[in-house]
Amino acid sequence: MIEIKNLYKDFGKKNVLKSIDLTINKGDKIAIIGPSGCGKSTLLRCINMLEIPTKGEVIFNGVNLCDKNVELNKVRQKMGMVFQQFNLFSHLSVIDNITLAPIKLGIMSREKAQKEAKRLLKSIDLLDKKDEFPTSLSGGEKQRVAIVRSLILKPEIILFDEPTSALDPEMVKEVTELMKKIADDGMTMVVVSHEMSFVEEFAVRVLFMEDGRIIEQGSSDDIFNHPKSKRLKEFLSKISK
Ligand SMILES: Nc1ncnc2c1ncn2[C@@H]1O[C@H](COP(=O)(O)OP(=O)(O)O)[C@@H](O)[C@H]1O
Ligand SMILES: [Mg+2]
Repeated sequence: MIEIKNLYKDFGKKNVLKSIDLTINKGDKIAIIGPSGCGKSTLLRCINMLEIPTKGEVIFNGVNLCDKNVELNKVRQKMGMVFQQFNLFSHLSVIDNITLAPIKLGIMSREKAQKEAKRLLKSIDLLDKKDEFPTSLSGGEKQRVAIVRSLILKPEIILFDEPTSALDPEMVKEVTELMKKIADDGMTMVVVSHEMSFVEEFAVRVLFMEDGRIIEQGSSDDIFNHPKSKRLKEFLSKISK
């Protein structure tokens, strides 16, 4: 589905991503771990072209997204993104946050979008909050709304950038449970997370990044129980599960 070849990203003189190669297949559940500043967010942002790679290719369903003629808005409909800080529109109600993109992009009529949004809100037990504004929601509720906002576009893949890092501990579970449900439904997912118990349970493939490179990858059992590189061993010894 996505093939990343020899990807580099520089910010000025700083080389943030160096020679990244990664193939993402339909249905993959990939987790990316690694120390702060190693380039995890930049990699996700290069996959959906929120950052334009300095060099290399991102091929999505056969189309090279680095090609200047590609209509990125069309591509991004197919790639959902969920951010640490939720990125909900504070001046819009919960339901309007969810229906905005499908209506604006002409994918659904207002009526159809409202119906679909209500169905999604019901599935996360937040239908009664549909007319509230994001400020009146808890962090966990905001993130669950942000997740269904990406689901309404029926993306082929969803990228999650530390979706639980801004949450109080008691709210982490409601978000990771929703993510596991979406994974079980077959969604292709790439998740940057420090929530190691979730990563261990969710990920079929775990990538360990350091200093702009993927330096080790494997099953969660490989990565957590049989780490090979010194750097991964050090990283794991510093984090608590
Ligand atoms: N827009 C930007 N301009 C300049 N430097 C950036 C920008 N975005 C990220 N960086 C730098 O790139 C490095 C990697 O950042 P990031 O991808 O956010 O790391 P991570 O998500 O792994 O913590 C950091 O040193 C960060 O300061
Ligand atoms: Mg980050």
